[in-house]
Amino acid sequence: MSVRNWVAAAVLLGGSAWAAEAPAIVPMPVQMTAGEGVFKLTAATPVAYAGKDAKAVAAYLSAVLAPATGFALNALPGAAAPANGILLTTVGADASLGAEGYELTVTPKGVVVKAPAAAGLFYGCQTLRQLLPPAVLAGTKQDAVWEMPCVTIKDKPRYSWRGLMMDSGRHFMPVPFVKKFIDLMALHKMNTMHWHLTEDQGWRIEIKKYPKLTQLGSIRAESPVRGNRNQGDGKPYGPFFYTQAEIRDVVAYAAARSVTIVPEIEMPGHALCALVAYPELSCTGGPFKARTKWGVEADVYCAGNDKVVQFNKDVLTEVMGLFPSKFIHIGGDECPKDRWKKCTKCQARMKSKGLKNTEELQSWFIQQIDQFIASKGRRLIGWDEILEGGLAPGAAVMSWRGTGGGIKAASEGHDVVMSPTSHCYLDYGQSNAGGEPETIGGCLTLAKVYSYEPTPANLSPEKKKHIIGVQGNLWSEYLWDGNDVEYNGFPRGCAIAEIGWTPADKKDFSSFWNRMDTHGKRLDALKVNWRRLTPDQK
Ligand code: ACM
Ligand code: ZN
Repeated sequence: MSVRNWVAAAVLLGGSAWAAEAPAIVPMPVQMTAGEGVFKLTAATPVAYAGKDAKAVAAYLSAVLAPATGFALNALPGAAAPANGILLTTVGADASLGAEGYELTVTPKGVVVKAPAAAGLFYGCQTLRQLLPPAVLAGTKQDAVWEMPCVTIKDKPRYSWRGLMMDSGRHFMPVPFVKKFIDLMALHKMNTMHWHLTEDQGWRIEIKKYPKLTQLGSIRAESPVRGNRNQGDGKPYGPFFYTQAEIRDVVAYAAARSVTIVPEIEMPGHALCALVAYPELSCTGGPFKARTKWGVEADVYCAGNDKVVQFNKDVLTEVMGLFPSKFIHIGGDECPKDRWKKCTKCQARMKSKGLKNTEELQSWFIQQIDQFIASKGRRLIGWDEILEGGLAPGAAVMSWRGTGGGIKAASEGHDVVMSPTSHCYLDYGQSNAGGEPETIGGCLTLAKVYSYEPTPANLSPEKKKHIIGVQGNLWSEYLWDGNDVEYNGFPRGCAIAEIGWTPADKKDFSSFWNRMDTHGKRLDALKVNWRRLTPDQK
């Protein structure tokens, strides 16, 4: 049903002012049918749960409804829908909905969320939150009539990887903001936060075996000033990093919101801050200082030094201990080969392994790491440069330099996450109309992002299955803090969420644009510094 028909139906059927509006769900569900009347949530509404893992989701629902409504809804076990209440259940769910799908039925007499697994129940609850007035998302008590329109929804995601990337390397993002970001992802039914943790400009994750990584590598002497990327601000930046205890806390917080955190540890390039701490891992021996300008550093790990391979295995061992994610991102992008061409160790490695060029040396290095990650039951993912010189078997590719890398990888049978600069680089500007804050460059309007179709038409149906998802990237050279991440991330991140969730034939930019009227009120209630819509976004 179109939004316009919905409004007409809901108005005809009566209901409160809010409930008469279209249920502007973002991302748009697969199937949604209007019912008659409204369900009213009160302080006395019973909440029941049944089946596997439903208890935790019920507790989550009560907790998120509490601040704005002031209701302390007590969730209790119970297989049947309580009268005038809410039931969350995995019992008797339609298995074809998969682990993340759900059914949601709202009638004047009650609400039932039914899903095969906890993630689906959780997403049913996100839809439920969006059916209530936007003020329900506020962190403090609000005056509102807590009604939702009656509706029947059957819903499941299009892709299994619905991601956003946070770059804590260029600018450190404090833990409370990381949690807010995870909450925002969950609201949009996004399930993968790619966390960029190491860079030429800062190493941000505590590694117990190599304490100097954060003692020395999490500090830079200065940064480019806002407004002039060629001038330093003279202000030391750091030490800024996440302790392992903080990471465990964030990972658990994300898991409770159906978000998997995929950590990224960059190698063999973008690794200057590791070399600051351990210069013996470089080709030249250093010494080094953390980069104070943006851009790519020429000094990289020495691929001819066995200690480098062992060091990265040790780091990844601790990383895999912290992050249960199946995928481990090892970067692999933008590794200048200048040092390798002149380094006797790198040249000796090429000779002994019969490698024809430095691309093959990079490939050899990535394969060592791939074998190690695979031996631990995990899967390597890297930027599309890891295709050069031969891709490690089992590795997955994140296609960023356009979609060619993704198409090639999928054709060869590798899984692919599409994240091309052309549509998914949310660090680009959002408008050419002037008055925008400084960005890395480019112009990527909301409409352009929304228009993206991740699965290339020219792949065979068999190869299309290897396109596992889509991701928006929030590189932070020009995002100084969470406020900037929110401005660049929303509403373009809402568009990425809809690309990842909603079937292609249901995508409709004008519907999305109209839904942003209501959805913007949600972002306001959550105190998100989202970029307001202007005509140049279309
Ligand atoms: C990248 O943007 N260098 C992956
Ligand atoms: Zn070397």
